[in-house]
Amino acid sequence: MCGIVGYLGEGNVYDILIKGLHRLEYRGYDSAGVALVGKDGRINIFKTKGKVSNLEAFCADKNLDSSVGIAHTRWATHGEPSDTNAHPHFSEDGNIAIVHNGTIENYKVLKDALEQHGCTFHSETDTEVLAQLIEYIRLTNKCSLLSAVRQALKQVVGAYAIAVLEKDNPDTIIAARQSSPLVIGIGDGEFFLASDATPFVEYTKECVYLKDGEIAEIRRGESLKITNLDNVEAEIDVTTLKMSISQLEKGGYPHFMLKEIFEQPDTLRDCIRGRVVDRGSRIIINGINDHKDKFLGAKRIVIVACGTSWHAGLLGKYLLQDMCRIPVVVEYASEFRYSNPVIDKDDVVIAISQSGETADTLAAIQIAKKAGAFVFGISNVVGSSIPRETYAGCYIHVGPEIGVASTKAFTGQVMVLTLISLAIAQLRGTLTQDEIEQVGKAVLKIPTYVQRVLELADRIERLSLIFTYARNFLYLGRGYSYPVALEGALKLKEISYIHAEGYPAAEMKHGPIALIDQEMPTVIIAPKDHLYEKIVSNVQQVKARGGNILAIVTEGDTVISNIADHVLEVPEMPECLTPIITSVPLQLLSYYIAINKGKDVDMPRNLAKSVTVE
Ligand code: M6R
Repeated sequence: MCGIVGYLGEGNVYDILIKGLHRLEYRGYDSAGVALVGKDGRINIFKTKGKVSNLEAFCADKNLDSSVGIAHTRWATHGEPSDTNAHPHFSEDGNIAIVHNGTIENYKVLKDALEQHGCTFHSETDTEVLAQLIEYIRLTNKCSLLSAVRQALKQVVGAYAIAVLEKDNPDTIIAARQSSPLVIGIGDGEFFLASDATPFVEYTKECVYLKDGEIAEIRRGESLKITNLDNVEAEIDVTTLKMSISQLEKGGYPHFMLKEIFEQPDTLRDCIRGRVVDRGSRIIINGINDHKDKFLGAKRIVIVACGTSWHAGLLGKYLLQDMCRIPVVVEYASEFRYSNPVIDKDDVVIAISQSGETADTLAAIQIAKKAGAFVFGISNVVGSSIPRETYAGCYIHVGPEIGVASTKAFTGQVMVLTLISLAIAQLRGTLTQDEIEQVGKAVLKIPTYVQRVLELADRIERLSLIFTYARNFLYLGRGYSYPVALEGALKLKEISYIHAEGYPAAEMKHGPIALIDQEMPTVIIAPKDHLYEKIVSNVQQVKARGGNILAIVTEGDTVISNIADHVLEVPEMPECLTPIITSVPLQLLSYYIAINKGKDVDMPRNLAKSVTVE
């Protein structure tokens, strides 16, 4: 949540910052702002409520000349979205400006103390408290900005990534992180700073991921020094980015979400590459092979995740139980962390997160580590916190996902969970070689099959018109299709703002069946699997009550096709692989419904892609 950009160099500061903010807008977009040290030696802050495009309009007639600046796109935590609460924030004397991503939990105590010392506050944010605290310490202790930041951060409880500018010191940016991401790009005589590497990937591929508790002093003239809160110097570990600029552009699509849906044949290919070998007969997952004893000895697997990643995790439960015969529990990370969980040292905990930065998932990892469990991470963003905080893991390799609604990351996560299950089954001998090979071969065909499903797009677009004005939707599935129903409902909710509920199809008769009528579409995910006959009954039950049914069925299905009002046919697959195939038409359905309603699918209201606060 919230995106930070900073730049120190000879380039056009404002242009670099604005472009960077657009790239980070997926992190939050209720207000935006920039702070520039002007040639007149003053810090000028321009900020406004709304998206980055509003800020650009606001800045159109301003003097933006500068050689150093910081910028921010906000997802509100303390204080409503407004011009005043937008970042950057000044200290009262206007000497320092700060941008912040995270939450200062003890801000009230700090604010009260500062007020007693005569500070006046202008916004409702916790960030302004930090700005005032740093300046108060600098003035009282007559110390450098770096020292004041260090002393202030020692008093802070909570999460932060910050960038600070000082009026009288236009050759320096101070940056620090604790539980919120921050990465420094090292260019040719210039430095970049950002919440992720996307704002500077076209300028440099060299970067340093700041670690928790570290403070960076970025000085003009190619000097970067990193210390910790105790002023001990840290080693500078330079990473070379593999990301390309084309991955960050829409590539001719009207929205990132649509581009990402259509990318899935390729992203799944990338996800599978090198992991399914010998024509499907052998599965190689390094993170598992390197820790065989942990997976052989595991008494239980605990999966922790949030949102869409939790839905992938629920599928992981079905996959792991089926293939590896290990008990699996799936927990919302936000519940797990406060539930006094019973974790054994023989448990393997799998944390799933696209961004690798979700605060609750990170907290769950710490709890599992403390209890002595082996923690394995599944993430998309290379170098993010979750891969760094876990003992081993596996990237999904689907490339940057920018649309707030997760699509290609979901199918990538499910793919990786399938491969992990096969790899563990191979290790524990819970599937025969024939069984592994049968699924392995089908996995290799998945990209082509997803391509076929994408050919339904025009049909789904036409169908979406029928459903656009429904006020409620019910999504039903059984077995492997139940998490798909949950995910389908979440996709619709988050981008079209239509209420939708995912339910296990057989549970429907214990309550939700009362809701069924012509007005409420029921989407039923019903591929040919071992529960097919059962779900046919559920389809009949909905129809008998006058329900309006859209069913996702296997190609050639005649039974459900005769009962449902509309059907979308998908290719036949082994049961464990059907979720990847059946989730794609649901992504498209949500997309087109949201478009028909004129919604901003890439930046739905109130949401942010990366939830780095509780
Ligand atoms: O980055 P993560 O996978 O940890 O994010 C978890 C959720 O915030 C995320 O999946 C969210 O539910 C998506 N917007 C759903 O499309």
